[in-house]
Amino acid sequence: MFEHTRVAQLILMRPGGHRRLHRTTIPPGAASTALTPIHSLRHRRRNLLHFPFASLFPPSAFLLSSLAPCLRGSMNPKTMMAPGVAVRDPELLEKKKAAIRSAGPVNVQVIADFDGTLTKYWINGIRGQTSHGLLQQGNQVYDAKRQALYEYYHPLEISPDIPIEEKTKLMEEWWEKTHGLLIEGGLTYDAIKRSVSESTIAFRDGVVELFEFLEKRGVPVLVFSAGLADIIEEVFRQKLHRSFENIKVVSNRMVFDETGRLIAFKGKTIHVLNKNEHALDMAAPVHDNFGDPNESDPDNSLVKKRTNVLLLGDHIGDLGMSDGLNYENRVAIGFLNTNTETSLQNYVDAFDIVYLNDGSMGGVLELVTQLCPQDP
Ligand code: TMP
Ligand code: MG
Repeated sequence: MFEHTRVAQLILMRPGGHRRLHRTTIPPGAASTALTPIHSLRHRRRNLLHFPFASLFPPSAFLLSSLAPCLRGSMNPKTMMAPGVAVRDPELLEKKKAAIRSAGPVNVQVIADFDGTLTKYWINGIRGQTSHGLLQQGNQVYDAKRQALYEYYHPLEISPDIPIEEKTKLMEEWWEKTHGLLIEGGLTYDAIKRSVSESTIAFRDGVVELFEFLEKRGVPVLVFSAGLADIIEEVFRQKLHRSFENIKVVSNRMVFDETGRLIAFKGKTIHVLNKNEHALDMAAPVHDNFGDPNESDPDNSLVKKRTNVLLLGDHIGDLGMSDGLNYENRVAIGFLNTNTETSLQNYVDAFDIVYLNDGSMGGVLELVTQLCPQDP
């Protein structure tokens, strides 16, 4: 039976090294399953219930409670280890890193979610706003209606217990209602600018350095968000000291009439659980300037040629951002901002590296420095 078990290692990382904290056996395939984590959790529960030697597998609750003190603490003054980083499979990660490094920066692309990934979840003890959440339409009744929707749907969005099909329908509902209220209640581009200037939104520490590094290496960054493109671009303009040629935003884009009033949204709605349906179509035109400079690309397929993907997200649905890319290597990095106890196992199953505690981008910057040590 033991030849069928896999070993999961959850470790803390510090600059320049890894240290294993916990080692345990888990059911075969669980750590690398392609099932969504919601299913995977159910699948795990089923295994635990029906497997004859289930007691040999520590249940998730045991795994999480034994990890919690290690993962949650502040920086250990003796070891100086960063708190709150989990790596599912260090050996696999090292293999992926070596493959990406040897193919060079010309084959790398970064696909990043915006809200809760590039931005902080908490800002000075206050919940950071999202591109949707910061918006003041200039109509308090409609602002309150959208806030009421947030209070109803956001707990459903982050719940690990709702089956994926059901949750997808709920998210469609939320986005359609919110977009409808934005049109119905009136919105102008001036209100967007004012809202961003008054917002509580901030990039994670280290994001600017990450963008600068990737720009220097000629690595394109696709910001792929279920938020609002016009607002995200305004956040970039107002909250960053300069623009970055290598960054493009793919998100729900507004259509304004000649008086500057919102009248519609372009194309199909992107919500947190259908990013996979939009992935390649959205990415291709965005990346067409970032291929190999020595090759012409008549069929606009450069995005497919950058076959090494660094994916950053804070939601399980963000993994769909690379669907259709046919990548060779993907390092998926997840920021688990909330519901840590209930979602940690799901995130560790789904992402290669998981950052907890609303941490900085420092670890990702260190990673890309290792992946792309030289100019292309
Ligand atoms: P993201 O894809 O950049 O993370 O953006 C999606 C986030 O936006 C998601 O986590 C939920 C959030 N959101 C709001 O805060 N208010 C809203 O009205 C809607 C529809 C989404
Ligand atoms: Mg997000």
